[in-house]
Amino acid sequence: MDGAPGHAIVFGASGLIGWAVVDQLLRCYPEAGTFSKITAISNRDLEISESHWPKTDAGRPKLQLISGIDLRHGNGTTLAKSLKQAVEDIDTVTYLFYLAPDDTEEVATNCRMLQNVVDAHNSLSPNLRFVGYGIYTAGGVFAPPLTEDMVDNLPPDHTETIVYPAYRGLLNQASEGRNWTWCEVCPDTIVGFTPNGSQFSLALHWAQYLSLYAHNHGVGPSNEYTGNPVIEVPFPGSAAGANSLFSPVSATRIARFMIYASLHSDICGGGQLFNIADHEVPCTYGKLWPRLANWFGLVGTGPPDDSQAQNNALAVGELPQGSSVSKSLGIQDLKKAKIQSKAG
Ligand SMILES: NC(=O)c1ccc[n+]([C@@H]2O[C@H](COP(=O)([O-])OP(=O)(O)OC[C@H]3O[C@@H](n4cnc5c(N)ncnc54)[C@H](OP(=O)(O)O)[C@@H]3O)[C@@H](O)[C@H]2O)c1
Repeated sequence: MDGAPGHAIVFGASGLIGWAVVDQLLRCYPEAGTFSKITAISNRDLEISESHWPKTDAGRPKLQLISGIDLRHGNGTTLAKSLKQAVEDIDTVTYLFYLAPDDTEEVATNCRMLQNVVDAHNSLSPNLRFVGYGIYTAGGVFAPPLTEDMVDNLPPDHTETIVYPAYRGLLNQASEGRNWTWCEVCPDTIVGFTPNGSQFSLALHWAQYLSLYAHNHGVGPSNEYTGNPVIEVPFPGSAAGANSLFSPVSATRIARFMIYASLHSDICGGGQLFNIADHEVPCTYGKLWPRLANWFGLVGTGPPDDSQAQNNALAVGELPQGSSVSKSLGIQDLKKAKIQSKAG
């Protein structure tokens, strides 16, 4: 890293990780003067006034927010043209954070999106020094304990459906003979904030579930004063789910690591992979559940008895039908009401 203040461009800036990267940069992490400009790129429309980022002032880097950049369309040349028109001082970009989503079914689309970004910046940003990106693969392929070197030994059937090996090839090739290098950040579940919702936000899913549960059971902020009975909420999954180990990480921690990595390319570059977690020791949802429930005035208990039969048989997002969980959430009632309103 030399002394000149950096210009960071963040693709996927409205997402969990991207929002936190912009937030940390605006809060002058790691120190004031490290970055002078931030360009935040999002796909859907977003106004700075709705972003919940700190207000810009003289002590912070200058922020530009560019919405409406859909990376699925066009190619590196058309993206370069759009960025050149929209972004002030695009030629001064030094650090690139790529945090757009990756749908594991769509390797070709995901590759094209990242390819467009690196092609555009290879032509637009002669001062580019570092590219960092974040990845995830649901369900898991390897048995724990997981180590970073496992990434080189993906089973062949997975290399066809997972985009990350292709990303690595693409970034190795695109950075060859250039002044920039790159790294990959590969966390487990991320807990963070987005201004306009995110399909990857587990915290948001839990908040919706538990607030609806509390509402349906008459639990509100004034519950403790009105002396309402204690309402128990069973863990909405199987015993295996409640006891599985995982290593959550806050979006702020990842953002800080990514910024650190970009500023220390000598030790973090060269296509290295980093797994980031809040704690060295993993946790289970079974242990977290009472604390999560408590936020909503509820008492979290273990999985319902009938969940044992459905261990690992449910698809992502599917609730145990007919179990005490869906009954107590009023799911059947909601479905009935929907059908009736359609019929009516
Ligand atoms: N959340 C997790 O638990 C987790 C864990 C490990 C790894 N990861 C990985 O980390 C990466 C980022 O995750 P995240 O949780 O921050 O995702 P996210 O909250 O869904 O954010 C995705 C971002 O990409 C943008 N985007 C979506 N489609 C786009 C398109 N066609 N063109 C341009 N931008 C587009 C979104 O913009 P709009 O909102 O404007 O559409 C949003 O800013 C993903 O690759 C994910 O797999 C996530």
